Amino acid sequence: MSESGSSQQSRSLFQRRENQAPETSGGYGTSVIDRDDRRTVGEALLEDPRISCRSVNVWYDKTHAIQNVTLDMGCNQVLAMIGPSGCGKSTFLRCLNRMNDTIAACRVDGQILLDDMDILGPQVDVVSLRARVGMVFQKPNPFPKSIYDNVAYGPRIHGLVRGRMEEDELVESSLIKAGLWHEVKDRLDSPGTGLSGGQQQRLCIARAIAVSPEVILMDEPCSALDPIATAKVEELIDELRTQFTIVIVTHSMQQAARISQRTAFFHLGELIEVGETEQIFTMPSHPLTEDYITGRFG
Ligand SMILES: Nc1ncnc2c1ncn2[C@@H]1O[C@H](COP(=O)(O)OP(=O)(O)OP(=O)(O)O)[C@@H](O)[C@H]1O
Ligand SMILES: [Mg+2]
Repeated sequence: MSESGSSQQSRSLFQRRENQAPETSGGYGTSVIDRDDRRTVGEALLEDPRISCRSVNVWYDKTHAIQNVTLDMGCNQVLAMIGPSGCGKSTFLRCLNRMNDTIAACRVDGQILLDDMDILGPQVDVVSLRARVGMVFQKPNPFPKSIYDNVAYGPRIHGLVRGRMEEDELVESSLIKAGLWHEVKDRLDSPGTGLSGGQQQRLCIARAIAVSPEVILMDEPCSALDPIATAKVEELIDELRTQFTIVIVTHSMQQAARISQRTAFFHLGELIEVGETEQIFTMPSHPLTEDYITGRFG
């Protein structure tokens, strides 16, 4: 956006906040941003994106949960999505592999390109799409199968392996990449659900990477983990980004700062600001971003 637009927006925000009664200053209403001046601050577009989202809107019946979001995601990069509860992070993330299709009341429009494929197109085979754009959820959800089968299942149904030897190799390499091999190599036939929470989450990551996705979506993947398991998953994310595009939702600013290269701040369904993670956390351009990262609301 233009500088004058940005400063005009900031001014109108500050003016409104100065006029607010002190007891309401933290509670931003829907009218904080002038509706004719709602533009994302920062670098939403990239030169060589892996995913390009243009004017994406999402409704749940009449609730306008995502409003006109335009954002690129880069190759071999971690993009962190932050913002207060209910601002639309999970909703937006789910658009990227059509997980919102499973919610009857949900309607998505706009354009989301993965390379040249329009993800939202009616002809898209969502099963193949979800192999290209994998997802790791907040709560580890291994299948009620063995550790081995949890990882082998995806490659089997997508016809990615021929014979047991290839399958064994893929299971091993996926578990190695997920940093879990040494902990489970002697009990591959045990149920995945019998692992600790942190191990289960790494198993889910192994399952996601076994089908060679291009993009991995993670919705608060560490929120159910202790600090040690969290550190392992964060280390893993940093290693995985050399091969994949990763988009992660997190409520932890420290985590966003540690593992992402770009950060996008959402508020009330809008993408307020996006930029290099360091800049967002040290010199945010938008007052709402600053208020959020300094803990003034959220
Ligand atoms: N299945 C659904 N049906 C109806 N409304 C929904 C549904 N899922 C989300 N919403 C609404 O959409 C908005 C965005 O929700 P979303 O879950 O995307 O937020 P979020 O940023 O991920 O929040 P949190 O940080 O709490 O996970 C909220 O107003 C929420 O109530
Ligand atoms: Mg969420």
